[in-house]
Amino acid sequence: MREVFENGIVSCGDALGILREMPGASVDAVLTDPPYSSGGLHMAARQADPADKYQRTGTKRTYPPMLGDLKDQRSFTMWATLWLGECWRVSRSGAPCMVFSDWRQLPAMTDALQGAGWAWRGIVVWHKPSARPNLGEFKHDTEFVLYAVKDKARPTHRRCLPGVFKHAVNTARKVHVTGKPVELVKDLLAVTPEGATVLDPFMGGGTTALACLETKRRFVGAELSPEYMDLLTARIRQAEEALKQA
Ligand SMILES: C[S@@+](CC[C@H](N)C(=O)[O-])C[C@H]1O[C@@H](n2cnc3c(N)ncnc32)[C@H](O)[C@@H]1O
Repeated sequence: MREVFENGIVSCGDALGILREMPGASVDAVLTDPPYSSGGLHMAARQADPADKYQRTGTKRTYPPMLGDLKDQRSFTMWATLWLGECWRVSRSGAPCMVFSDWRQLPAMTDALQGAGWAWRGIVVWHKPSARPNLGEFKHDTEFVLYAVKDKARPTHRRCLPGVFKHAVNTARKVHVTGKPVELVKDLLAVTPEGATVLDPFMGGGTTALACLETKRRFVGAELSPEYMDLLTARIRQAEEALKQA
């Protein structure tokens, strides 16, 4: 099943299979937030419900279940190398690739990114002040965006962008258990030109698509969960309508 929008297309299914059907050198950028398979040192902790792993204790709101978050460490790295390799193949030369990660999976993701062929260029920090406290230790109030390019960077402007972005989780705009703020994703899109086609193989609640719409980019993506596919479809259609009215 796939949904075609005015500015993009999203397929419901496994990212790897969907990427393998895409033509080579057909997108201008990759910006994605895959399942982290994180949340604990031991297997039992990692296999807990993502709603418990990634939300503050006592959070009342419930979301549809997130799929694909149960991999052990070695299979996570191998799997990430496979889909990042496909992202590399379908990207044009010079394309930036931005991948979200938490602190625990950072080493695995940097290995996978480079193993897949990308030239790693740095790490952008997302500072989220609303993160849960960590008694007696440092607060985990950051997530990371690995930044890489295919072949060689080809900047399309001469602005110097920050390396740290501060955005609170916007519960009112969030439809996914680990949904990212639209404003953060819009900030990240600053390394792409208007009109660029941005690939997100793990669309979740469609945040990348919304950020693309609001910044005049196009999007192509995938989402495994039919429930999230319905949510993101409604969210994108609503955003398209709102933009027409504006
Ligand atoms: C971290 S979430 C993305 C959240 C998104 N950035 C947002 O702001 O709403 C990752 C998504 O990938 C989906 N997913 C997991 N395994 C997948 C796979 N093999 N192919 C496609 N999507 C998958 C999950 O269902 C989940 O919705």
